[in-house]
Amino acid sequence: MNPTKKTTQNNAPEESALLQSLDRENLPKHVAIIMDGNGRWAAQRHLPRIAGHRSGIQSVRKIITFAREIGIKVLTLYAFSNENWNRPAKEITQLMMLLERYLNKELRTMMKNGIRFRALGQIDRLQNSVSQLIRSVEEKTKNNTNMVLVLALSYGGRTEIMDAMKKVYQDLETEKLSIKDLDEQCFSEYLYTKDIPDPDLMIRTSGEIRVSNFLLWQVAYTELYFTKTLWPDFRERDFLLALRDYQGRERRFGLVSREKQD
Ligand code: FPP
Repeated sequence: MNPTKKTTQNNAPEESALLQSLDRENLPKHVAIIMDGNGRWAAQRHLPRIAGHRSGIQSVRKIITFAREIGIKVLTLYAFSNENWNRPAKEITQLMMLLERYLNKELRTMMKNGIRFRALGQIDRLQNSVSQLIRSVEEKTKNNTNMVLVLALSYGGRTEIMDAMKKVYQDLETEKLSIKDLDEQCFSEYLYTKDIPDPDLMIRTSGEIRVSNFLLWQVAYTELYFTKTLWPDFRERDFLLALRDYQGRERRFGLVSREKQD
């Protein structure tokens, strides 16, 4: 296989045509992305895995800029899962260094472009310098309103639900919360995502068809989109293909189709 050849839907229209046909009134408010395939991208080129992650950062930059330009309000990127802690120590260290460098470098761009930064996950598990940097970028960008960029770091959906349950239990015990008030809306307030809307669209790259413990509670009615494109190859056109697919769907939220109503 030629590694430089992109694995993508090649018969699809070009980027400009896709952009033109985009319905700006029907954009997903929140797009979440499982950025997968960095390691395979590197292996295809006989490069170390870190080269794939480094290249993946180019996609991160491009997709954030593009999402903001077209009017996506919340973009969540799955950058480091709880399960990723089991990777070799060297890869974890390299990923943390990339993250630190990325945040230090991008703060100016976030301020210039009105991007608010948020992190989701067990941030205190990250090394001190990284967690402090994250908190400081969150604080500095907190009044920006063009788009929210959410990085899921040291994140696991089941852990998030367990953490929420523990807090609910504490509040029940101390009578800050009454069991009769505990409904879905109330439980959502205990999740890491408490002030972030549920994703409308979730994209996963690299051909894997699963959600891998990402935003388990929040994806109840999310439209899922899978592409074979590896994350370091994922560009504006690939994002537009996902949006086109999303806009072609009818979201029923458990109700009856519009055509079938009588
Ligand atoms: C999945 O590819 C990707 C990750 C585990 C990390 C994602 C990280 C980046 C894109 C770079 C850092 C991001 C920021 C925002 C600074 P994989 O390694 O599982 O790929 P594989 O399945 O092909 O091995």
